Amino acid sequence: MLMIANWKMNMSRKEIVAYLDTLAGEDRWGVWNEREIRLVLCPPFPYLDLLRKECVRRDLPFGIMAQNMAAFDTGPFTGEVSAGMLRDVAAEGVLLGHSERRQYFGETDADVTRKIERALAFGLVPVVCFGETQEERDRGDASVVWSRQIAPVWEAVGRDRAEGRATPVFWAYEPVWAIGTGRAAGLADVREVSRHLRKTFGKECARGLLYGGSVNAESVTSLFEKETVRGFLVGGAFLDARTVLCIFDRLFGRES
Ligand code: 13P
Repeated sequence: MLMIANWKMNMSRKEIVAYLDTLAGEDRWGVWNEREIRLVLCPPFPYLDLLRKECVRRDLPFGIMAQNMAAFDTGPFTGEVSAGMLRDVAAEGVLLGHSERRQYFGETDADVTRKIERALAFGLVPVVCFGETQEERDRGDASVVWSRQIAPVWEAVGRDRAEGRATPVFWAYEPVWAIGTGRAAGLADVREVSRHLRKTFGKECARGLLYGGSVNAESVTSLFEKETVRGFLVGGAFLDARTVLCIFDRLFGRES
């Protein structure tokens, strides 16, 4: 299980230290990690290296991923951060195509495809976000949108596999209407997405399905079905370290 915290454009140096101090009070991280239940933190770029060092210092086995990445490897691209740079600061993966990137920064499916090519070439684990808006859902177009967003990216994964690499790829179903609204999708919705991925792109693709959108201590319990989702991508709720602990305890505390 992957429990990914997307901090978006939040947190400061001081808040990160306090967050890790709170998490360090829990002694089951090693046990959870052995069971492949992992917490992954996605800070804003400037805090990637600080976060890594602070985790190492506290012996906290968390994964670290970036929230975005450039589609280019190097050169005159002011303000951009490349896959190689992310590897250099020991990030293990990267979120790609988040709906906020698509909505506010005009990212297209073609951009996401170029980015995943670069991520895979550098061995970064991509978490590709996809999902429909309320309007698309109302029109009955949700599955058309999922396929349109995933198809070119899945082809890029195929080209990478053909080169002999096998970096895992995750697909975060994040319906736009569920992000930050307090209205999470239901298990039936997520099962439908899983079925659609299996039918359209095959079992391997469906196996990497994550869910994101208003995940909190209540909604996560009803969405937690191991055959359907490999984990969750959490925004607001995981800005609070106590909620992280509460959700881990609720989902995994007594798992054998
Ligand atoms: P919320 O959990 O705040 O709804 O955000 C979801 C999200 O966008 C994670 O990437």
